[in-house]
Amino acid sequence: MATVGILGGTGPAGRGVALRLASAGYEVAIGSRDAERAYEIASRLEPRGTGKVHGVSNLDAAKCEIVIIATPWESTLETLQPLAGELADKILVSMVNAMQKEGREMRPIFPAAGSCAQEIAALLPNARVVTAFNHLPAGQMEDLDSGLDADVILCGADNESMAEVAEMVSAMPGLHAIEAGSLALAGTIEAFTSVCISVNIRNKAHSYVKLEGLSH
Ligand SMILES: NC(=O)c1ccc[n+]([C@@H]2O[C@H](COP(=O)([O-])OP(=O)(O)OC[C@H]3O[C@@H](n4cnc5c(N)ncnc54)[C@H](OP(=O)(O)O)[C@@H]3O)[C@@H](O)[C@H]2O)c1
Repeated sequence: MATVGILGGTGPAGRGVALRLASAGYEVAIGSRDAERAYEIASRLEPRGTGKVHGVSNLDAAKCEIVIIATPWESTLETLQPLAGELADKILVSMVNAMQKEGREMRPIFPAAGSCAQEIAALLPNARVVTAFNHLPAGQMEDLDSGLDADVILCGADNESMAEVAEMVSAMPGLHAIEAGSLALAGTIEAFTSVCISVNIRNKAHSYVKLEGLSH
């Protein structure tokens, strides 16, 4: 099984993905600007199954075979730039969304290239960028007893990378991967996260995305 590194993996989004990946048997390294902090947070995660979560620096997380970026959009490109050498030719999964709060609503921000994922692909032309996990509520991801049963919509720079990520996602408890298409679709996927969060704020809920009419 591939090793998976998560850049900015100490936040709620990265922790939830790490826990469920490890519960599917993956060796996961959550990365941080501060390896001590990552070590401390990793030691508190309790995956079920044979996988493990380690805490490391972002540089060491970038050395894994598959890498996930889980930082706020505002710091994504500056986090990735110094790691370009490590990330060349690797699958780089972006779960990054760009948004800002306006009153009780989250509003999407559209980066110039159309999406965070396309900005990342432009910065790292040798990485194989795939988007995933954008809509998942971190609290339920981190609670293995939450009953989460969510679809994860994927967009990819190429079909082979997207299929590899789909296999990884569908192995994770409570998740089903759905391959959507190219990175040209990523902007709408990322922006829809603002709708999901706004629905949850308005309804005091923790809903997630599930598409009907597909056979899993
Ligand atoms: N939260 C969710 O439910 C959820 C669900 C799906 C997708 N997402 C997306 O996933 C990403 C992360 O979400 P999150 O809620 O986990 O965010 P977060 O807690 O604000 O940040 C995640 C990690 O990024 C690192 N970071 C923060 N500011 C940074 C900076 N200026 N420079 C470099 N690293 C920095 C921090 O790690 P260190 O301090 O340890 O370096 C932090 O723990 C976002 O793009 C979000 O839209 C979130």
